[in-house]
Amino acid sequence: MNLDLSGKRALVCGASQGLGEACARQLAEQGAEVVVLARTEDKLARVCQSLAAGQGQTHSYIAVDAADIAALSAAVAAELEKGPMHIWVNNTGGPAPGPAHQAKPDAYADALGQHLIAAQTLLHLLLPGMRSAGYGRILNVLSTSVKAPIPNLGVSNSVRAAMANWAKTLAGELGVDGITVNNVLPGLTQTARLDSLIGHIAQGSGKTTDEVSQGMRAAIPVKRFGRPEEFANAVGFLASPAAAFINGINLPVDGGSTGSL
Ligand SMILES: NC(=O)c1ccc[n+]([C@@H]2O[C@H](COP(=O)([O-])OP(=O)(O)OC[C@H]3O[C@@H](n4cnc5c(N)ncnc54)[C@H](OP(=O)(O)O)[C@@H]3O)[C@@H](O)[C@H]2O)c1
Repeated sequence: MNLDLSGKRALVCGASQGLGEACARQLAEQGAEVVVLARTEDKLARVCQSLAAGQGQTHSYIAVDAADIAALSAAVAAELEKGPMHIWVNNTGGPAPGPAHQAKPDAYADALGQHLIAAQTLLHLLLPGMRSAGYGRILNVLSTSVKAPIPNLGVSNSVRAAMANWAKTLAGELGVDGITVNNVLPGLTQTARLDSLIGHIAQGSGKTTDEVSQGMRAAIPVKRFGRPEEFANAVGFLASPAAAFINGINLPVDGGSTGSL
C-alpha cells in the first residue's frame, strides 16, 4: 500500500493544536512538506519545528485569521509562489455551542464566513496547482453532526451540513483531474475544543466536568474519547496515493458513536 507523500506539499489549516496539529504530524511522517496555518504564531512555530523532517523536507507556517478573507487570501497566495499544494486539510475552529433557535443571525454569518467562504477562497487558490500536478487531496475536518445533528451545537450543525454538501458537489466535479474531496468526521476526541465543550455542559447542568466527561465516554461504544493521532491516521491514508479511488465520502472517526450509517 503506497502511503508515501515524498515530494508532496500539504497545507494544514487549524494546525496550531488539536486535530490539525496531529494531521500535520502524520503528513510530515509520511514525507510531505507541510505548511501549518492558524492565528497563533508562537504555537505554529513550535509545531513547525517539531514535525518530522527527512532530507530536503522543510516545513513552514502561515499566521493568519481565516475569518479575515482578504488576509487569508493574500497569505496563502504568497505561500503558493514557492510551489503548489497537493494536499489540503481544511480545518478551523468550531462555532460556539448553544441551541439553534437562540443563536444570533450574525453567528451564522460569521461561521459561514470562517468555514464555507474561507474554504471557497482557498479552493480557488489551490485548485490550479492541484490540477497541473494531477494530484489533489482535499480533506475537510467536519463533525459527525453531518450524519446526525448534535444537540446544543446549532450553528455548528448547520455550517457542517453546508460544508458537507459543498464537498460532495466538488467531489463530482474534480475527480476527473485526479483530485479527491472527502470529509473526515471527528467524534469526541481529546483536544482543547472538547475540554471547552465539557466545561460548557458542566456549567449548564450543575455537574462537575469529571461527571460530564464520564457520561460522554460511557455513551461511546469503545468507552473512551478518541486521540488526535487516531483521527490523523485516517487523514494520512486519505491523503495518500493508496486512497485514489475514495472520493466524496463522509468518514466518521468516532469509536462507533454515530447512530446512523
Ligand atoms: N475535538 C472534538 O471532539 C471534535 C469533535 C467534532 C468536531 N470537531 C471539530 O474539528 C475541528 C478541529 O477540532 P479541534 O478539537 O482540533 O479544535 P481546537 O483544539 O479548538 O483547534 C482549532 C484549531 O483551529 C485554529 N483556528 C481557530 N479559529 C481560527 C481562525 N479564525 N483562523 C485560523 N485558524 C483558526 C486554532 O488555532 P488558533 O487559535 O491559533 O487560530 C486551532 O489550531 C473544529 O472545527 C471542531 O469543532 C472537534
